[in-house]
Amino acid sequence: MRIILCGFGVVGQSLVKLFDSRSDDLYSKYGLKPRVVGVFDSKGSAVNSSGLNLSKLVDTKKKFGTVKNYSKNQNSMSGIEMLKNIEADVLIETTASNYKDAEPGMTHIITAMKKGMHVISVNKGPLALAFPSLMELATYNQVMLKFSGTVGGGTPILDYAKNSLKGERITSFSGILNGTTNYILSNMSTGLSFESALKDAQEKGYVEADESLDLDGLDAAAKLVILANWIMGMKVTLPDIDCTGIRKVTTEDIKKAEKSNCSVKLIASCNKKLVVSPKEVSNDDPLCVNGTLNAIAFTSEHSGTQTIIGRGAGGTETASSILRDLLDIRQEIGKD
Ligand code: HSE
Repeated sequence: MRIILCGFGVVGQSLVKLFDSRSDDLYSKYGLKPRVVGVFDSKGSAVNSSGLNLSKLVDTKKKFGTVKNYSKNQNSMSGIEMLKNIEADVLIETTASNYKDAEPGMTHIITAMKKGMHVISVNKGPLALAFPSLMELATYNQVMLKFSGTVGGGTPILDYAKNSLKGERITSFSGILNGTTNYILSNMSTGLSFESALKDAQEKGYVEADESLDLDGLDAAAKLVILANWIMGMKVTLPDIDCTGIRKVTTEDIKKAEKSNCSVKLIASCNKKLVVSPKEVSNDDPLCVNGTLNAIAFTSEHSGTQTIIGRGAGGTETASSILRDLLDIRQEIGKD
């Protein structure tokens, strides 16, 4: 399967390492032979229609900070040029999420789908701003648009709700969808101020380059948009979310919650309205997880409430979700 990879940060590199280390069993177990024919990062590209050498790709990125130096004649092709000029079956879009215009990811995804390529996106921006129209475009072009890694990282939250709860009617859900703010709030409950907890999270590398995405609830809101569209069949985008972040949560709020055996959590919920906001959650509720963990509780008409807990971020975790999507695409293509 020929792949173009847009973005070569932590997730892209983890994915390539995963392909490299698992090549034998991916082929023997699943018949999957990923051939990365193009990689694009913010400084340049590496292209080989017979397939790039994956360990050389990772080494080049480590040494030069870009894949541009992969070959002697440095390649400056942009992601869009690559998508237009190189033949491939799947685009894996891993450039950074932005919620202003979702670029360059939006153009990558649209260009690929118009060309008849399947798309796997872990970039939340395009889906948060244009989920309904991107799904329409995928249907129109008869391609698959997959995005398992956008919610819950490696934890298969979307697949659980869509496939394991098949036939059920999910009436509501609520969850902790942002690991960074959960880490900050968990640390505040041990007595740290918001500023100290934020600094600690930044030192550990958890906080997005644009801290507002985590702190003001945008990342959680983007994930809520994706869940609402995919799981509940709503046609909503980011402006439809009533969103409040954690900047105004004080240690006093947290102490007050503790008196009634509760913790303050940034909760994304879909129960008639779509809301992201700090809320008190009982410490006995399975949803009340700490650290960088994510958790989501789905309430269904017949089977009650189930809570899924797992790591919601990380390179290898998110790469594993891309692999799941790729195997789904492989299976669908195999049916033709
Ligand atoms: N900033 C996100 C989080 C990363 O903290 O959960 C994963 O989307």
